[in-house]
Amino acid sequence: SEQQKMNTFINKLLSKMTVDEKIGQLNLVTGGEATTGSAVSTGVEAKIAKGDVGGIFSLTTPQKIRKAQEIAMRSRLKIPMIFGQDVIHGYKTTFPIPLALAASWDLPMIQKTARIAAQEATADGLNWTFSPMVDLARDPRWGRVAEGSGEDPFLGSEIAKVMVKGYQGNDLKAINTMMACVKHLALYGAAEGGRDYNTTDMSFDRMYNEYLPPYKAAIDAGAGSVMVSFNDINGVPATANKWLLTDLLRKQWGFKGFVASDYTGVSELIAHGLGDLKTVSGLALKAGTDMDMVSEGFLTTLKQNLNEGKVTIAQINSACRLILEAKYKLGLFDDPFKYCSEERAAKEILTQENLKFAREAATKTFVLLKNDNQTLPLQRKGTIALIGPLANTASNMPGTWSVNADMSKVPTLLQGLTEVAGDKVKIVHALGSNLIGDPNQQIWGTAHGRDIPRDNRPESEIIAEAVKIAEKADVVVAALGEASEMSGESSSRTDIGIPDTQKRLLEALLKTGKPVVLVLFAGRPMTLTWEQANIPAILNVWFGGVEAAKAIGDVLFGDVNPSGKITMTFPQNVGQIPLYYAHKMTGRPLGDKPWFTRFWSNYLDVTNDPLYPFGFGLSYTTFTYDDVKISNNTLKPGQKITLTTTITNSGKYAGEEVAQLYIRDLVGTSTRPVKELKGFQKINLQPGETKTVTFTITEEMLRFYNNELKFVSEAGDFKAFVGTNSRDVKAVDFKLVK
Ligand code: IFM
Repeated sequence: SEQQKMNTFINKLLSKMTVDEKIGQLNLVTGGEATTGSAVSTGVEAKIAKGDVGGIFSLTTPQKIRKAQEIAMRSRLKIPMIFGQDVIHGYKTTFPIPLALAASWDLPMIQKTARIAAQEATADGLNWTFSPMVDLARDPRWGRVAEGSGEDPFLGSEIAKVMVKGYQGNDLKAINTMMACVKHLALYGAAEGGRDYNTTDMSFDRMYNEYLPPYKAAIDAGAGSVMVSFNDINGVPATANKWLLTDLLRKQWGFKGFVASDYTGVSELIAHGLGDLKTVSGLALKAGTDMDMVSEGFLTTLKQNLNEGKVTIAQINSACRLILEAKYKLGLFDDPFKYCSEERAAKEILTQENLKFAREAATKTFVLLKNDNQTLPLQRKGTIALIGPLANTASNMPGTWSVNADMSKVPTLLQGLTEVAGDKVKIVHALGSNLIGDPNQQIWGTAHGRDIPRDNRPESEIIAEAVKIAEKADVVVAALGEASEMSGESSSRTDIGIPDTQKRLLEALLKTGKPVVLVLFAGRPMTLTWEQANIPAILNVWFGGVEAAKAIGDVLFGDVNPSGKITMTFPQNVGQIPLYYAHKMTGRPLGDKPWFTRFWSNYLDVTNDPLYPFGFGLSYTTFTYDDVKISNNTLKPGQKITLTTTITNSGKYAGEEVAQLYIRDLVGTSTRPVKELKGFQKINLQPGETKTVTFTITEEMLRFYNNELKFVSEAGDFKAFVGTNSRDVKAVDFKLVK
């Protein structure tokens, strides 16, 4: 069989390898195109020649990768290297950030973005992507929420699966598929206080039922590799956590691929307080980390660890074998240069077809948060004042981890809107404000050589100029929010509102009496309580990829009806965090009691409600849900019951709706969430059209990890809810009888 063939090949190779060559395979170095830590790899070419490098990341183009691989081919055993990169949401055709893609709830579309990413990345020499990032996140202060799918384990798992399938396809040996690396195992999204790289501390109940399922789903879908998280778990950093990397990942989950550390994850164990480089390298290998990214702790100390009996040759062999197997599965031993084709690179990257898809995809991710008096869509006539620091900059389109985007080809919103508007609309523009109060502190907008416009005049003058322009227009479109580098790795915030100077601009624009549309750029849920109370229309456009500007135009003018729904709760204020829909009941739930009620679980100064609940998003049309019908109020194992509801498009525009199914387990041996997403369907309805949506419930869907960590369902009463978001639902009761 294929497996036997691989084993024979690897056994033979391993038998020829010296200890040094084996350790060399465990060394992952950076090619330097994107560095995210204090250390950077040096002397790379000499190391490759010596057989001291197993893989390189952040090096692209067939020319450069061929050059590096040629050096590997001149090493004693000619073992090819693997080439990785953070291809997180598209390659050169950059798609919306993952949090935005999740808001589409469109699994085939998300899978296709991963497919196109793999097609383009492999055409540029790569064969390994550090994606999907499946860290569940319930704290919008954490900048990396932008890279994941949001707060829900079910949706997160569904997305994890399709992304792995999109990257890896059905055949990893094909030239246009690449190996996925599910990250960051585990719980990285639960960093305390939302501060990146911070400690996590979590119960097993929450881990098994909520945070772990998306990693498991990606692994079950066949992800070939795993990246370890920076944080500690139960007091042991993940990189050296044997429970995590061996007991859970290998023994319980049966993972067969290889495990890479994160950037300097091994040497960071020193700062975590686990010992010196030699000690921590031994600990990491023994725990189950196979590949060391950038630290070179493995390369420089494992032999000594071996000689001192701190690690065994079996442990080194095992890690080496897994990395060689990955290369074998990719077909690199058959042809180390299979991804190095200039012809493919010229033909398959940033094609018109891919760009068209990127534009369509972006339109499906935007979330209409408010639309009073049908302010949107805009009419194609009159004058539009497009105001704001984010109105005329391309930097804000591709979003975090978009190092490959060719910025010279990315239109600004002003350019995109002008193109989509056509001849009958006049668009006038002013900066209106800087991104933040002091433009010289504007470091947040400037990564990767990208910048956003700035103006050194006093704020009042900049605003007055914009107000003058707004007064002459029929409608104001304010392009405000976060610069793209205000979310993503290392970009945590404690204030997640629109920066004050932009808010003062917004107030001034409102005073003109003109209708104001807020086009909000954001990499996270933001606090928008004032905006929700005062601005007639809010369209959240995240960071929508290289074609975002035109896509925003498509939605603003109503060529596409927005259908995105948020996958992270938007809080009223930062003090409510963490706020998520699937919370537990508590012994003193506020329930329907008035706020504020003393001695019940609520705050003195703000209600328990979110500003926008999970699953929320408006449309230019309206959808009406009928009552939910249930086929049977009793469910038995091995059987199923169905829920049906009819949904009618009761407005004037054709549109897409995401119908959501939630379940609550009312009585059991553990506390359970008040609602858990268990299914969803995205349907398209013409004005006046009605469709029936059917959800199936089985006993398996009711299973959870109980207090003994057994995956069980418990007989008793349940509620099922169907609705347009996690708050606005219709409920039916049923019983599980065993
Ligand atoms: O893949 C990333 C990871 O998500 C964060 N640290 C750097 C890695 C490599 O770029």
